Order: sequence, then structure tokens, then C-alpha cells
Amino acid sequence: MLEDVLDKIICGDSLYLMKEIPSESINLIITSPPYYKQRDYGMGIGNENRFDDYIENLCNIFHECVRVLRNDGSIIFNIGDKYENSSLLLAPYRFALEAIRRESVKLVNNITWVKLNPTPRQFKRRLVSSTEPFFHFVKSDDYYYDIDAFMDYPNKKRIDRNNGNIGKKYFDLIEQSFLSDEEKSMAKKELLDVIQEVKSGKLDSFRMKIRGIHSQPFGGQEGGRKIQLEKKGFTIIRIHGNSLKRDVIECPVETIKGGKHPAVYPEYIVTQFMKLLTKEDDIVLDPFIGSGTTAIVCKKLKRHYIGFEINPEYCEYAEKRLNDIQSQFVMEFY
Ligand SMILES: C[S@@+](CC[C@H](N)C(=O)[O-])C[C@H]1O[C@@H](n2cnc3c(N)ncnc32)[C@H](O)[C@@H]1O
Repeated sequence: MLEDVLDKIICGDSLYLMKEIPSESINLIITSPPYYKQRDYGMGIGNENRFDDYIENLCNIFHECVRVLRNDGSIIFNIGDKYENSSLLLAPYRFALEAIRRESVKLVNNITWVKLNPTPRQFKRRLVSSTEPFFHFVKSDDYYYDIDAFMDYPNKKRIDRNNGNIGKKYFDLIEQSFLSDEEKSMAKKELLDVIQEVKSGKLDSFRMKIRGIHSQPFGGQEGGRKIQLEKKGFTIIRIHGNSLKRDVIECPVETIKGGKHPAVYPEYIVTQFMKLLTKEDDIVLDPFIGSGTTAIVCKKLKRHYIGFEINPEYCEYAEKRLNDIQSQFVMEFY
């Protein structure tokens, strides 16, 4: 019964525990399975002798994830890569390829986590790895998706800060220019429109080029900026910045003071996905919950959680972290 495991962290092997979950009952599965030969958690997946066995084990779990997922639900898998004999295994992508080959799922996005504080190692013959993929899989095109809730914070801040004087210098430049009266009035109208887009949060910012004042853009196609500058007397370059919902999340690696788990994934990223892909009271499952990050975000955002973890010490640690937070507490940056 689903109620028996709801809002609990269950200690055990997720492959077996998943069998207890009814089909099509979960809104979101978000998880970071053990990476291949990255850490010795003492048990469970990740230390298979053969890489293919690791992929096989992940695919077996993934099969169960697909079974328990609702038709309008989503699966987010975060997997890191590994070097073997100085060569990347491409582990995340080999898993993703196998997943879409075996299961009836669609891969909506491969979202790149850019680590702002990667481990500062210097290699002589390669660059420091500082990204990891988060794969977003769905079963149908009807998946729940609240795009406005995703990464909404940075835009609001930026817009408030700029509100007063956006575009003022361009009004002055239009007046000073040698554009005809008709061109000037068209330029002011389009300038007002783009300022509105910035204020409403649709755009991050913009630049304007005015004939005779700014340099001409290089190259370009027929109908491009150069032509606009010649024919209309101006061109407006829209800058989407953070307001464009891109498949990139920049965020530091999480470190918890005195933490007992070596591979905690960032609350910030989990929060963004949960806001994008679930509503309050939805059910979120993490089959490799480790230190309990997924459950913590659920508690803060008022979602139900189910967490599986094979290592009893981590189960205990996750429970402790959960008890330490208040369900009403929502950190400011959410
Ligand atoms: C990368 S960690 C997850 C960390 C987690 N995202 C967090 O923020 O703390 C993977 C976890 O999966 C657990 N694990 C490995 N094999 C397992 C299995 N078969 N069933 C359940 N948990 C397993 C490991 O003990 C480890 O804690």
C-alpha cells in the first residue's frame, strides 16, 4: 500500500522495495544513483566489476521507475561520469541511450548542472570536469509542467533593480539622431514595447542600435540587423539571460558541515525540478535517497516523499536531517 511508505525513508534495496509501489502512482521520481566506481558506499549499486553490469542494474531500477510513474509524471536521473584508463566512459549518456531504447519513454531535456565550485584539481593533460547531466524523462506528452515556477527568483530581483531608468539613454539618443520623424516615432514605440517586456520579466535586458550613432553589425542575412538599421533606422537586440528558461543550472556543489554522506546533491537543483514538475501534495520518490535531500525539499515545498536507501547509517542520517527542519520553513531563495 502506498500509504504505508508515504513520507517515510525505508531502509533496503530499492530494486525490491520498488515492487511494493503500485503502478502509475508517483508524480515525480528524482534521484542521483551511485556513480560507477566513484565511491564505495559499502553496498548496493556502483561497484560492479563490469561497466555493463552497472548499466544493467540502473536499467532494472529505471524499468520499475517507469512502471510506478503516473502518465503525467516525470523522471529526473542525475548521473556523473567516470574516467577509466584516461578515457571518459560517457556513463550518463550510455545509460540514457539504453533507457530510451528499452522503455517507452521520451527524453525531454538533458539539463546540464554547471558546478560553480568544482574540486580544484589541476591536471596536466585534461581540463577539470565541472558539469553533470540531469535527464528528464516522461511517459507521455501530458506531463505536468509549470515553467513559470522554474528558476523564477533571479529575474524578479533583476527587474526590480532596474525598474527606474530602463532605456532612458536610448530615448535621448533617438532624439539626437538624424532619423526622420517617422523613424524616430517608430523607434520610440518599439523601445517602449521592449522596456515593457523587461519590466514584465519576459526579457532580461536589451540593446538598441541607431543608424548614424552606433556601429553597423557585421555580416548578417537579408532581413537581419544590418538591413533593419539601414531601412528602419534602428534595431533592437533582445537579451534573454536568465528569463529564457535554458537547459543549464549553475549552482555550487553542496557541502554540509559535519555531513555524513559524501555525495549530496544540491537542494537548489532539486527545488527547481520539484517546482517545475509537481504541485503541492504530489508524491515524489527517490530510490537512492542517501542523506535525504529529496525528502527535505519535499517537506519544505509541501510535497509527499518516499525515499529508499540501502545503507542504514545514511537512513539514520537522513531522518536526522529531516527532523531538524520545520515543514513551514522555506528558504528565501526559493
Ligand atoms: C549518490 S548517492 C545519493 C545522494 C543523495 N542524492 C543525497 O543528496 O544525499 C546514492 C545512494 O544510493 C545508495 N544505494 C546504492 N545502491 C542502492 C540500492 N540498491 N538501493 C537503495 N539505495 C542504494 C547509496 O548508499 C547512496 O547513499
